Amino acid sequence: MAPKVLIVQGSTAHRSRLASVAAIASEAAEATGGDVRTWDLADSPLPVMSLSDPRQRRLPEVVAVREAAAEADGFVFITPEYHGNMSGALKNWFDFLYLELAGKFAGVLAVTGGGGGDMSILSVKNSFNWCHGFTLPFHAAARPEDFEDNELVNQRVIERIRRVSSDVVRYAPLIRNTFEEARTGGDDWRNGVAGMHAKG
Ligand SMILES: Cc1cc2nc3c(=O)[nH]c(=O)nc-3n(C[C@H](O)[C@H](O)[C@H](O)COP(=O)(O)O)c2cc1C
Repeated sequence: MAPKVLIVQGSTAHRSRLASVAAIASEAAEATGGDVRTWDLADSPLPVMSLSDPRQRRLPEVVAVREAAAEADGFVFITPEYHGNMSGALKNWFDFLYLELAGKFAGVLAVTGGGGGDMSILSVKNSFNWCHGFTLPFHAAARPEDFEDNELVNQRVIERIRRVSSDVVRYAPLIRNTFEEARTGGDDWRNGVAGMHAKG
């Protein structure tokens, strides 16, 4: 079975430079053998997560997001850098999820307005790690000068995006299978973090 990769595009802007980055990531993940789906938060917005509204979890858009995340073996997250952080829309996406991300693998990409992208990339990695997800120790960021008419043209950045996307296809099934195997072993320290998500 081809590894399932969910590309999460974390901008609410319809004419975003993230679209070009997502297309390059998608092509590279497919070329490596991934079964790729893209989730664009501009096309599929979520309400702000509210713990005071128990009906929210049953909203079709929330159910769809949780199902898509549960199905995926791995993720490529693309965030715009907002105030030295990931976008609020992407953080809100994380707030609806936890178990769907545990034992999964992710690569992270950022698009900035001039910054290096490290802070927004780290914020995404932090959130994913705190959901017990594993992240690739390599990433890519694109600045405005790397684009022409919203198309990414900087070959060095394109190559980094391709490496990240290819690695997600490569490592996601290994991490998920290993985690699932340990998870079935029960809540014993010998099963590591996966044991904390023991079945049954
Ligand atoms: C609310 C907001 C905050 C931003 N903060 C930063 C920032 O801290 N660092 C930076 O380099 N760019 C910042 N930018 C610029 C965005 O990173 C940039 O416009 C975006 O990633 C590029 O995607 P776009 O094509 O959707 O605009 C900010 C933009 C907005 C709207």
